[in-house]
Amino acid sequence: MLVDVMIENNIPDDVMQGDAMTYIIGGFHTIGNWLVFALHFVSMYPEVQDRMYQEVKKVLFDTGKVIPSNVAQLVYTRQVMEETLRMGLIAPYASRYDDENDVTLGGYVIPHGTPIIQALGVGYSDPSIWPNPDKFDPDRFSPEKVAERHPYSFQPFGFAGNRKCPGYRFAYAQVATVLANILLKFQVHHVDCFGVKAMYGIITTPEDEVWLTLTSRFDENKEE
Ligand code: HEM
Repeated sequence: MLVDVMIENNIPDDVMQGDAMTYIIGGFHTIGNWLVFALHFVSMYPEVQDRMYQEVKKVLFDTGKVIPSNVAQLVYTRQVMEETLRMGLIAPYASRYDDENDVTLGGYVIPHGTPIIQALGVGYSDPSIWPNPDKFDPDRFSPEKVAERHPYSFQPFGFAGNRKCPGYRFAYAQVATVLANILLKFQVHHVDCFGVKAMYGIITTPEDEVWLTLTSRFDENKEE
């Protein structure tokens, strides 16, 4: 689809190649790790998992699958996904430099060519914004709580206008779809002997493999 749009718009071959590669790299590692951390947190907090399951069952009742018209109704699922981005620090920073002009920021002149790191994740553990920040609590992302916070307190996809992550809507839709499908069919359990240690980089990954076990919900779903 991306390639079709680029062909329709006469984008040169070398730009198409670059964009296709960027989308594959940008879209694969990010979404995979977001999902792994989400499933890990869900396995650690059965009450969160149960609430998600109830929501998914209700929203997918008619269609049995996530489609563009029902994905927005997965409100609690989205809260869990956002709390995962906060606690898991999936993309901890973005970076920039202006190679032509000096920039004045908060009264400081930043000479052109100076790399600037936007440490997106630093504020995610600030207790004045996120009380008890080490607790996994998806209710922080209820619509009411979000309305109370400054929008810049949580910008996991970057906030700099045109350069904000172009894949963020796709990422939300994809992760919500996979999570909803897994949770509708299975209960996800943490395996006690395996802890999860985060390794921070451009994208945060678990240091080792993450082990989970699944129990089928087939009988449970059949009875209802
Ligand atoms: C967990 C999911 C993802 C997270 C947390 C994430 C986060 C980010 C962040 C923080 C940036 C830097 C923004 C900035 O410089 O201001 C970025 C850029 C980018 N992302 Fe994502 N991203 C995710 C998924 C995706 C997906 C699914 C795609 C593509 C399908 C994608 C493609 C890109 C591209 C192409 C850029 C560079 C944009 C530019 O510099 O113009 N990302 N992303």
